[in-house]
Amino acid sequence: MAISDEYIQRLLNTVDIESVVSPYVNLRRRGRVFTGLCPFHNEKTPSFTVYPETNSFYCFGCGAAGSTINFVQKIENLDYVEAIKSLSQRAGMQMPEDGYDDSLSKRRMRILSANREAAKFYNSILSEPRGEKVLQYLLGRGLTLKTITHFGMGCAPDSWDDLKKHLNSMGFSNEELYEANLVSRSEKNGKILYFDRFRNRAMTPIIDLRGNVVAFGGRVLDDSKPKYINTSDTLVYKKGRDIFALNFAKNTGSTQLILTEGYMDAIALYQYGFKNAVAGLGTALTREQAQLLSRYADEVVLAYDADEAGIKAKNRAIEILSSTGIKIRVLNLTGGKDPDEILRKYGRERFLSLLEGASNDIEYKLLAQREKFDLSTPNGKLEFLREAVKVLADLDGAIERDIYISKLSEEMNVSKDAIQQQVNELRSKRKRYKERERVRELKRESSGEGDRLNPARNVNLRAAKAEERLITILLNSPEFFGKISQSIRPEDFVTDFNRHIFTVIYNRLSEQRSVDLPLLTGDFSDDEMSRATKLSLQGRGTAYTVAECNDCINVIKQESDKKTGVKLSELSNEEFLNLFKKGNT
Ligand code: UTP
Ligand code: MN
Repeated sequence: MAISDEYIQRLLNTVDIESVVSPYVNLRRRGRVFTGLCPFHNEKTPSFTVYPETNSFYCFGCGAAGSTINFVQKIENLDYVEAIKSLSQRAGMQMPEDGYDDSLSKRRMRILSANREAAKFYNSILSEPRGEKVLQYLLGRGLTLKTITHFGMGCAPDSWDDLKKHLNSMGFSNEELYEANLVSRSEKNGKILYFDRFRNRAMTPIIDLRGNVVAFGGRVLDDSKPKYINTSDTLVYKKGRDIFALNFAKNTGSTQLILTEGYMDAIALYQYGFKNAVAGLGTALTREQAQLLSRYADEVVLAYDADEAGIKAKNRAIEILSSTGIKIRVLNLTGGKDPDEILRKYGRERFLSLLEGASNDIEYKLLAQREKFDLSTPNGKLEFLREAVKVLADLDGAIERDIYISKLSEEMNVSKDAIQQQVNELRSKRKRYKERERVRELKRESSGEGDRLNPARNVNLRAAKAEERLITILLNSPEFFGKISQSIRPEDFVTDFNRHIFTVIYNRLSEQRSVDLPLLTGDFSDDEMSRATKLSLQGRGTAYTVAECNDCINVIKQESDKKTGVKLSELSNEEFLNLFKKGNT
């Protein structure tokens, strides 16, 4: 919490926000700001704006906002202190070590080092007699020692507590190992027993983009169930957030990634020379993962299993990926159930030719629709065309649309104009719908209805607006504070959310500390910070006056008095009299 203002100011003078943001967002300069596609929500036109002057960012689409520090926190999933550490490293600056509470980041560090030691342990077991069975299993799957080493695979011995004992001897407590999800626990006669979570399994560490071992997957050696056990969510791992092997694939220089369902497939692909292979981790592809992929690649080739579940997962993945704007191609796996099986059966060349024959997502979607209908009947043909029109209406590029419409008209022997007209109609219908939604949203916003961050805003609209304006003014012209500090206190604020924000500003200004946005990061919650950033930006470049502050203060007090009026019975005599002194009616 208490990293000094002076240090943060120095840090942010050294690293400029645009260079922190630009690895994640393709930024374009527009006068004094930069804009790009928001990395925190899916969009096709840029609403994400970076303000170098105040070291802050704001997305007009989703409302994500904050300082350079918030950006690093959000995009790298770090806490406040970790984000400052990461920025310090980049700036080559030494962060002051004491005086802040970093218990959470200390716990994270402990988990990460326990995981790292566990990975080393599992790997070393492979060269011991007790690891022989797992080693044979991996070799039997066609993996080479080189591949096994590259991915840091290993063996969880067939024992209750080999790992636990090993890590205990290195100074890790059972509670720490439990928090890392490396050991499980059960209670017997009031006594807690700890034992290894992974036993008699082939282990694969899950490594994040920074090279940390964040989790493990363990596979059984036979056909028993469950086939895989994975680390549950911990302080350093969240299901659906990471992509397996992206830490390797991102360094290959390829702008294409091959995405598989199972990490064993990605490992096999790697061994056969496809070093740009990655895998999801046991869940359906999430938006977070799709965003991550789109940050590191221009094109994703889906190499999902050929079974029914795989096709479902593939369709879902196409939907999610298309909203990121990334190019998608879809493999039609034949001759085996998954990439691993196909490679082992037919080798590298076969997979290469599959890659060459991969259809793009539009072709794939049209094909998938075509299979549903009997095109030899007029009715089937009609139904198919109706679905095909929906697919084509999704295409935003006019030329792209034209190409597929031409192709479809030839194949189906239907006039091109007819298809074109249907596609256009559907597109304008969708556009009208979107515009109506947008207007509704704007109305909701301006009436203050449904303000997620400040639910009290709607019922106290007059007060809330004055509160916000006062915050805006003080963040932009803190020099007015001296003139108004006697006439307003945080207690006067009507809405709790704004009061929290104002309290931080009030306390800082009372202590003659700066209210530069980035310095507020540590004092605010994420929500408070994004609102403060929004309010601050609203006042950019405006010349305010003390009179305007006083207008706001008067409104806030009137509204606040109205509210206290309801609770007269709860007032002390003195407070009661005070009410009348203020000239309240
Ligand atoms: P698959 O069953 O397709 O895995 O599950 P696979 O890679 O073909 O497995 P092998 O070849 O038989 O060893 C795909 C992914 O789903 C998750 C795992 O992450 C796996 O990589 N999964 C599967 C589980 O988490 N638990 C399970 O019991 C099964
Ligand atoms: Mn498989």
